[in-house]
Amino acid sequence: MAEFKKADSMLEWFDQRLGVVNFAKVMMTEYWIPKNINFLWAMGVLLTVLFTFLLVSGIFLLMYYKPDVNLAFDSVNYTIMQEVSYGWLFRHIHAVGASVVFLIIYIHMFTGIYYGSYKKGREMIWVSGMLLFVLFSAEGFSGYMLPWGQMSYWAAYVITEIFGGIPFIGDELVVWIRGNFYVSDSTLTRFFMLHVLLIPLVIIGTIVFHFYALRFPHVNNEAGEFFDFEEEAEKYLAGNKKESKVVPFWPVFLSKDFLVLGFFMVFFFYLVFFHYGFAMDAINFDKADGLKTPAHIYPEWYFLWSYEVLRGFFFEIAGISGKDLGLIAFGIANVIFFLMPWLDRSPMVKPANQRPYFKYWFWFMMVDLIVLTVYGKLPPTGANAWVGFASSLTFLTLFATLPFITKAEAKKVKEK
Ligand code: HEM
Repeated sequence: MAEFKKADSMLEWFDQRLGVVNFAKVMMTEYWIPKNINFLWAMGVLLTVLFTFLLVSGIFLLMYYKPDVNLAFDSVNYTIMQEVSYGWLFRHIHAVGASVVFLIIYIHMFTGIYYGSYKKGREMIWVSGMLLFVLFSAEGFSGYMLPWGQMSYWAAYVITEIFGGIPFIGDELVVWIRGNFYVSDSTLTRFFMLHVLLIPLVIIGTIVFHFYALRFPHVNNEAGEFFDFEEEAEKYLAGNKKESKVVPFWPVFLSKDFLVLGFFMVFFFYLVFFHYGFAMDAINFDKADGLKTPAHIYPEWYFLWSYEVLRGFFFEIAGISGKDLGLIAFGIANVIFFLMPWLDRSPMVKPANQRPYFKYWFWFMMVDLIVLTVYGKLPPTGANAWVGFASSLTFLTLFATLPFITKAEAKKVKEK
């Protein structure tokens, strides 16, 4: 066993064993941030704050929520919304927070892609970030089921059904996930456990890892410039603040983050008080009914693009059914962003507008994702189905060609 000195305080006792105080001190005082970064670099801090809001409002909701198919709907729509003082406020903060967190995650993710912040040396930051995206998706999906409204029930039905497409084990897997042959009380209680315990715990661990992974390669900057942080920090400490390319995280950089956070809070609470409806589906104010399928089932806005990829393939190609093709495409869409550091073959770390080919690829992908999102909400009939097919195919083609495009770009830049 390790030997420890006698501790003068409880904090010291913990610090000797876990190093938490020292870790926090190092994070705050010895953490250097490049000067030339814009408001997009504040998204990580916004995400941390939003996650805290979700955690705190979730704890309040947990005091009155009842995970039982006979009680869940009323415990949310009647007890929390009408009986408990300020219950509505915590529900709105939680629902709006769950939607807005995805908006900020997407901005954070596409900022990373635009500035090439996933490249050599930063792979672990990227992979842990993508893990957070998947975990937040699972958290959002399991939470959406809890009010036990019509869309909660049918979204859970459709999404769990997807696992049935996996060869050999699919049918058994669906029953295992649901805990029954259909979406039922056992499905609700296990999703409740996942939503309030297991997934949040894993998210907290992954956020700590994400922050830790950032320490060594440091954050990227607007120009993608590489410099020695130690040297720049020494210049700053020697009083040469103007010449140094870095500023300390605490208090200099964090003050800039707080400014962005201030604007964001105004926007967030404006939504919470005046536009909370956008985060809730009207159909979900009807209690779940396993015998009444809604005319049109669709997920929350942040899943629409991948849902459209799932529906995009609706006819047989080369002997493979449309349903299977959709499933394969959906599987690819959900993991492909993990591979960005390896699919992008150009070592150049520059913002997309300074990369001759990648800039077209980036904006093409953004437009395609918007088209997929818009059509994901429309019924997949007539021309809509063909737009869905074309945009899903474009999505897959974009990623299949990325290694060739970026390799050609690297060659072109080298020749110059
Ligand atoms: C949802 C929870 C997340 C939290 C709390 C979080 C937090 C942070 C923070 C505080 C930073 C440093 C400052 C900044 O650049 O914003 C950061 C950087 C970064 N994050 Fe995240 N992040 C999350 C999700 C993600 C996701 C989904 C991705 C995408 C895969 C991602 C990829 C990155 C990358 C590449 C960087 C480095 C940026 C650079 O070097 O300029 N993060 N994150």
